[in-house]
Amino acid sequence: MKKIAVFLFMCVLAFGAEFYGDTKEVSDPDDLLVLVNKFNYLPKNYKPSDLVYIDGAYGNKVPIRSVLKDDFIALQKSAKDELGISLMPTTAFRDQNFQKVLYDKYVKKDGIKKADTYSARPGHSEHQTGLAIDLKNTALKKTRLSDENYKWLEENAHKYGFIVRFPKGKEQITGYKFENWHIRYVGKKAAKEIIDNNLTLEDYVDLIAK
Ligand code: DAL
Ligand code: ZN
Repeated sequence: MKKIAVFLFMCVLAFGAEFYGDTKEVSDPDDLLVLVNKFNYLPKNYKPSDLVYIDGAYGNKVPIRSVLKDDFIALQKSAKDELGISLMPTTAFRDQNFQKVLYDKYVKKDGIKKADTYSARPGHSEHQTGLAIDLKNTALKKTRLSDENYKWLEENAHKYGFIVRFPKGKEQITGYKFENWHIRYVGKKAAKEIIDNNLTLEDYVDLIAK
């Protein structure tokens, strides 16, 4: 028993705190820099009050917070002008119940351990903030973005206030596998600082808190 406790303590030292181990409710769910992850969850059934609908992939209408609408449309226009592609949202805001249905489906398919590497538990998804968007290049049938599309996004999203939220090599910090399609709005100033310094949102929020 003692050995196990020492081992767990060493893991926490080596990799940071255990995911979903010590969680707390966020106090500022409407803040553009709100950090929702495996340690921080939204108030039960939180829903932003300024949702608007924009055109999504497959002819769907997709809800996002109004505060990011103009910047997102500018990002889409730039992708069209520079890459010739239509970047469309597959999902953006997801309510807590939608996230639960998704997460439960993935757990059934892959088991909890694997599902936790790519899907947030209900209440812990930043999709529920209305600030996250999953993107699809509508010209591609199966994959959401090509490597070229992704490279462009990585280099340009910050100009419109977005970051690629779950980058490659940062899995131990974000808690998720690389997702080349998931962007998160944080505003232009924060996005630029995050990109210029190769940070995650976790690192950035930690830094500005100090
Ligand atoms: N796929 C991301 C982590 C989510 O479920 O919010
Ligand atoms: Zn996503």
